Amino acid sequence: MTRRKYVVGNWKMNGLSAAIGEAQAIFAAADDHAVVDVAICPPFTLIGAMVAAAPGKAVGGQDCHSATSGAFTGSVAAAMLADSGASVVIVGHSERREGFAESDADVRAKAEAGLAAGLSVILCVGEPREVRESGGAIDYVLAQIAGSVPEGFDPHRLAIAYEPIWAIGTGLVPTVADVAAMHGAIRGALTARFGGAAEDMRILYGGSVNGENAVELLGAGDVDGALVGGASLTAAKFVPIVEAAATL
Ligand code: 13P
Repeated sequence: MTRRKYVVGNWKMNGLSAAIGEAQAIFAAADDHAVVDVAICPPFTLIGAMVAAAPGKAVGGQDCHSATSGAFTGSVAAAMLADSGASVVIVGHSERREGFAESDADVRAKAEAGLAAGLSVILCVGEPREVRESGGAIDYVLAQIAGSVPEGFDPHRLAIAYEPIWAIGTGLVPTVADVAAMHGAIRGALTARFGGAAEDMRILYGGSVNGENAVELLGAGDVDGALVGGASLTAAKFVPIVEAAATL
């Protein structure tokens, strides 16, 4: 089967109400490129307003708690994201794994919670710079996959995002050959575990994707789209990435 291209904006901790107009502009432009699935993951505070302003579009959270409810001050449950109109959740972003000490087991539990709440999940993996430089990147990422990807899900509802930590927000990107090698290794690990269902799972690249490098990076083998940070905050920067994906 052919996997549809998927371009996702991760707004991180950026965006006040005034930014909703950018999301509307992004989704409107994306309508011209129906071969590409587009989602935006704003801060929790904007999800409801974004869903209201862009009905039927894919809006997501950037994290969820693994529990369904309870005494977890400051956290948001997956069912709460769904209740606010979200259809997607990112789990295991390196900024959560590093900054909030999330383990593979934590990420797996969050992914399971997202799937149980009816969301589709984007599960992030990626190596730090010293691991890339020591030649251990593929082993490192495959261990994250083994530890954090759950069992028994609809493959269409779980995407992997490979985001080398050293490429996030730095303007540095891996070579196309390195991206293709990593994505091929991830596909191989998913196939070993899930058989033919792995063919339906999308593997996104993330880390300093922009309108200039998108065709090259998204055209690499086994790359099914992009998870975009800084360049997803405005339509002017994000739409060219969607357009690039539409050409592939
Ligand atoms: P940048 O696109 O800003 O490098 O961020 C990538 C990222 O972390 C997306 O989740």
